Amino acid sequence: MHTGLDSPPRIWWIPMHGAERIWVTVAFAWCLVLFAMMPLWHLKGEQNPSGIRHRVEPTRYYQRVQEFIKQYRVGQEAGIPVVAPPPGSDVYLLAQMWKWTPVLKLQRGVEYTLHLSSLDVNHGFNLNPVNINFQVVPGYDYALRVVPTEAGDFRIVCDEFCGIGHSTMVGKVLVVDSTGGAQ
Ligand code: CUA
Repeated sequence: MHTGLDSPPRIWWIPMHGAERIWVTVAFAWCLVLFAMMPLWHLKGEQNPSGIRHRVEPTRYYQRVQEFIKQYRVGQEAGIPVVAPPPGSDVYLLAQMWKWTPVLKLQRGVEYTLHLSSLDVNHGFNLNPVNINFQVVPGYDYALRVVPTEAGDFRIVCDEFCGIGHSTMVGKVLVVDSTGGAQ
């Protein structure tokens, strides 16, 4: 009869087999390579942008978005204001259950500082059809320097589960050629 008081059979601390030792070493070395790739890829790969992150009260951010809308509003689409900010400006996008405000109208080849934050819970900014993803977190204003490189009609799909209306949380970004920027 086996009880917890008996020592286990002593085979599990016999020395590692040679092949196992090699594979553990290979796996560990690979872990170090991948670990080093994280900062290297950030600096060299141009894939992971460096954002500017500040704490912000969600209600303050909400107010800032309203000011931004009032300042540069050019229309409305399905109840959501359409905003065309000038080149080089700060652009504010608000995520909340279950919409993105406002619809952004940007010019191609122009730099903007895109601010992302949430009024309530975590949301995911996923720009389609290009594959760009960011976490949108309440309490933080995450700002990215962006230059739209293609003209077109893009959708922002929420890719962080945020409740019953999650699958309907779709926003819009229009990128127009600078020459035809007015409309
Ligand atoms: Cu917002 Cu899912």
